Amino acid sequence: MTKYQFPENFWWGSAASGPQTEGRVANDGKGDNIFDYWYAQEPEKFFDEVSPGKTSQVYTKYKEDVQLMKQTGHNSFRTSIQWSRLLPDESGEVNQKAVDFYNSYFDELIKNGIEPFVNLYHFDMPMYLQEKGGWLNRETVEAYERYATICFELFGQKIKKWFTHNEPIVPVEAGYLYRWHYPEEANMKHAVQVGYHEALSSALAIKAYHSLDLSGKIGIILNLTPSYPRDENNPEDVKAAKLADAFFNRSFLDPAVKGEFPKELIEVLKGLDLLPEIKEGDKEIIKENTVDILGINYYQPRRIKAKETPIDKALSPMPEDFFDNYEMPGRKMNPYRGWEIYEKGIYDILINVRDNYGNIDCFISENGMGVEDEARFIQEDGMIHDDYRIEFVTDHLKYVHQAIQEGANCLGYHMWTCMDNWSWTNAYKNRYGFISVNLAKDGERTIKESGHWFKQVSDQNGFDA
Ligand code: BG6
Repeated sequence: MTKYQFPENFWWGSAASGPQTEGRVANDGKGDNIFDYWYAQEPEKFFDEVSPGKTSQVYTKYKEDVQLMKQTGHNSFRTSIQWSRLLPDESGEVNQKAVDFYNSYFDELIKNGIEPFVNLYHFDMPMYLQEKGGWLNRETVEAYERYATICFELFGQKIKKWFTHNEPIVPVEAGYLYRWHYPEEANMKHAVQVGYHEALSSALAIKAYHSLDLSGKIGIILNLTPSYPRDENNPEDVKAAKLADAFFNRSFLDPAVKGEFPKELIEVLKGLDLLPEIKEGDKEIIKENTVDILGINYYQPRRIKAKETPIDKALSPMPEDFFDNYEMPGRKMNPYRGWEIYEKGIYDILINVRDNYGNIDCFISENGMGVEDEARFIQEDGMIHDDYRIEFVTDHLKYVHQAIQEGANCLGYHMWTCMDNWSWTNAYKNRYGFISVNLAKDGERTIKESGHWFKQVSDQNGFDA
C-alpha cells in the first residue's frame, strides 16, 4: 500500500456548465443559444432527441444539488454563466432574473463551503450573435468583452476564480472543421478565424478583469491531448506529432500562457494562405494579457504517425493533411465511450507545463469517464456501483500526485462531472457524474459509489492504494 497525500488546501470537486445543467423554465427570460436553435430545427441530431432545455434542471434544484456536492466531498465546483441567459437579446439589457439566479446559486455554494469557479464561455453562442457570424465576426469579440466585464462587475466580489473559455478548440473543431456542432462547417479558413477571435477575446477579458482591480485570478480551461508519435525514432512521425500538438494544443496554450502563437503553426497557416485577419494592436493585447491560472482538461491522448493516406482533396485543407491518426495496437480503451485511457498522459501534461510554461498555477479542471447505458450497473440498493470510474480516477490521481512530487504546480482535481448532465449532441448518452440523474423520475438524483468514495478522498486529502 502506498499513501497518496495531496498538498494542503488541494481543490477537490467537479466541473459542469450552465447550458448543460440549468435547463429552462417558463418566463426565466433566457434567450436562445446555438444549441437551442439547432435543436428546434433538427431534434433528430440529438441522442434520443433530448433537448438542451431538459437538462438536470439545476435552475430550480440547485439547493438540493449543493447538499449533494457536500456529501460527495466538494470543496470547489465549476460552472459557467450562460451568456444567453444574462444578456438574452441584442439590446444588451441585463436579465435581472439571471442575476438573481446566479447570485443565489453562488451564495448557496459559498455558504456550504464550496468555492464556485466560474467560466464565461462553454460553446454556447447566443443566437443573435451567431446570426451575424458568431466567432467569425470581429463584433462578437467586442460583445464578449462587454459580457465578460458585466460578469466581473456583477459577481467579481464573490467569485475569485474566473475562466474566459472552456476548451476553445472545440468550437473550432466541432463547428468549423468536422461538422459535429452548429453551424456544421468544414472550412479551415473559418476555423482559423474563429480560433483567433476566441484567443483574442480571452486576452481582452483578462485585460478587463485586471483593470477592475479585483482580488481573484483569471485563466482559461484547455483540453490538452498530448500527441505521441508512433515511433519516437522516426523523424517523420515525430514531426507529424509536433504539428498535431501545434494545431490542437499549442494553438491556445501558447497565446494563453506565453502571449504568442507557435511559430510552427504560423508557418503552416501562412503556407496555406490561411492566416486570420489581425488588426493593429491585437498582438500587443495577446502578449500583455496572459492567464494567471491554467485549467487542464484531460481525457485522452493523440497517437500520431506521418501522413500515409492520400489527402482528401474534397475536404482539404484540413489539419489532417499533415498527419494521420495512429491506432496503436494494445492501447487501453474505455469500452463504453471508445476513448483511449492513458493515465500517464496527465503526468506528461503537468510536467510539460512545469518545464515549458513557467510552472504556472494550474489544476486538472476536467477528467472523467463517460459510460453509455450506465443504468445497467444499478444494483439492488438502487445505487450505480461504478468501480470502473473509481479505478479511472484513482489511476489518474496517482500520476497527478507523482507530478506534484516532482514539482508540478497543480492545485486541484475536478472531475467531469458532478451529476450526469446533458452533453451537446450526445445529450444523456454518456454518463459522467458522481451522482446519477433519472430522467424518467423528474431528474431524481442518487449518489453513485464513486461519489461516496470521492468524499473519503477529499476528507483525507488523499488515499491509500
Ligand atoms: C468535455 C466538455 O470535453 O467533454 C463537456 O467540456 C462535455 O462539455 C464532456 O460534456 C463530455 O462529452 P461527451 O461528448 O462524451 O458527452
